[in-house]
Amino acid sequence: MAASFANGAMNRSGKVEPLPEEFDPKEIVSPMALESDAGAVEECVETRREIVLGRNVHTMCYTIKEPEVDDDVTGEREGYMASVLARYRKSLIERTKHHLGYPYNLDFEYGALSQLQHFSINNLGDPFIESNYGVHSRQFEVGVLDWFARLWELEKNEYWGYITNCGTEGNLHGILVGREVFPEGILYASRESHYSIYKAARMYRMECVKVGTLISGEIDCADFERKLLLNKEKPAIVNVNIGTTVKGAVDDLDMVIETLEKSGFRGRFYIHCDGALFGLMMPFVKRAPKVTFKKPIDSVSVSGHKFVGCPMPCGVQITRLKNINALSSNVEYLASRDATIMGSRNGHAPIFLWYTLNRKGYRGFQKEVQKCLRNAHYLKDRLIEAGISAMLNELSSTVVLERPKDEEFVRRWQLACEGNIAHVVVMPNVTIDKLDDFLNELVQWRTRWYGDGVGEPPCIAADIGPDNCCCAEHKKS
Ligand SMILES: Cc1ncc(COP(=O)(O)O)c(C=O)c1O
Repeated sequence: MAASFANGAMNRSGKVEPLPEEFDPKEIVSPMALESDAGAVEECVETRREIVLGRNVHTMCYTIKEPEVDDDVTGEREGYMASVLARYRKSLIERTKHHLGYPYNLDFEYGALSQLQHFSINNLGDPFIESNYGVHSRQFEVGVLDWFARLWELEKNEYWGYITNCGTEGNLHGILVGREVFPEGILYASRESHYSIYKAARMYRMECVKVGTLISGEIDCADFERKLLLNKEKPAIVNVNIGTTVKGAVDDLDMVIETLEKSGFRGRFYIHCDGALFGLMMPFVKRAPKVTFKKPIDSVSVSGHKFVGCPMPCGVQITRLKNINALSSNVEYLASRDATIMGSRNGHAPIFLWYTLNRKGYRGFQKEVQKCLRNAHYLKDRLIEAGISAMLNELSSTVVLERPKDEEFVRRWQLACEGNIAHVVVMPNVTIDKLDDFLNELVQWRTRWYGDGVGEPPCIAADIGPDNCCCAEHKKS
């Protein structure tokens, strides 16, 4: 039956109508990638497209080939697809083993949820208002939202939120709510803010002021004050980083609030906290300043596939209920309210989050945070011992180091790089053994790059401060 549909449409009498003559699928799909002798997928030749940065995926894609009429009989197609998937799975296992650069917790067990894969679960619309589509998971979604609202100290009847597709969507939502609350507001964000914040400014055509940062990556409140005073007549919409992307720096929320108030912005500011990675870690770090709605903040977002360890991109966005009325409108077609950025929303993600939060609880997360911080300190200390420049912010598990010279090494460990620096984000799945493997390899490769006077490691004092830099000049001092 499925094969019949693939080659033509089925009419009411159950007969397959042939495709119109002018439709030749072979003309619009390129030839199927064939296995070479080595078992790899042969490259599809792509000459016109030019993509810069990273690797061009169009040279190694699994091409889709139109099914043959007798595929069902021969089973060839099924066999081909099974072999592609098996090979892909093998590569995922290898890539998971050598991953250190992105803040994804790859340690999880969701076997119990496989039974739900057969359902098209969609939470379109507002989480708190049931739409007419019944295959949803709002019961789980609201349970998860309650958990986060409690974590960030906002009463049940005072918050609104939803499970997003990722941290970026949380930022887009937070900034949009800020703009709706203060249509004339200016967006302030430190220059180390995630690019999604600047994307929001472009999308909403908002005036945006970039604020300088300290060497740690935190927002520079002296610069913030100067810039606020230049724009006193307009309200401020401020992005506060609870863990910057590259250096894992946590902006001093209390100082940001103090700066706003002393510059005459009391009652005329909206604060969005971008906690993509660290929003869930910080509550469990001893001595860390608190992110709480008891302070005059307006929204907080976090990614669900980062520290939490959800196997699909997702996130959580929490804001004050009173803010959301500025944004939302009713949609009759949904029988719900339009207050989210996306329309259809992944209904599986809330169940994965619910499952993890139930399994681990606040105490489980606390233990994992402590382990990450311990292991991050271990890595940073061992790097410095080996004479490799490295920095670790006090509240963070993101270890910044000199950018490895060879892109092959960068790719092997999937490191995220910016300019002269790279970082390792120590997540719960990053064990001491894995860090040792990484360190040993790095030390070996470095002797190739810099041994026997071949060259010098770069000076990265401008990025991480002279005290953390182990270049020839700063090692001496
Ligand atoms: C500080 C910060 N904000 C937002 C994001 C975006 O999160 P996502 O990848 O979930 O969209 C990231 C991603 O790394 C981030 O580091």
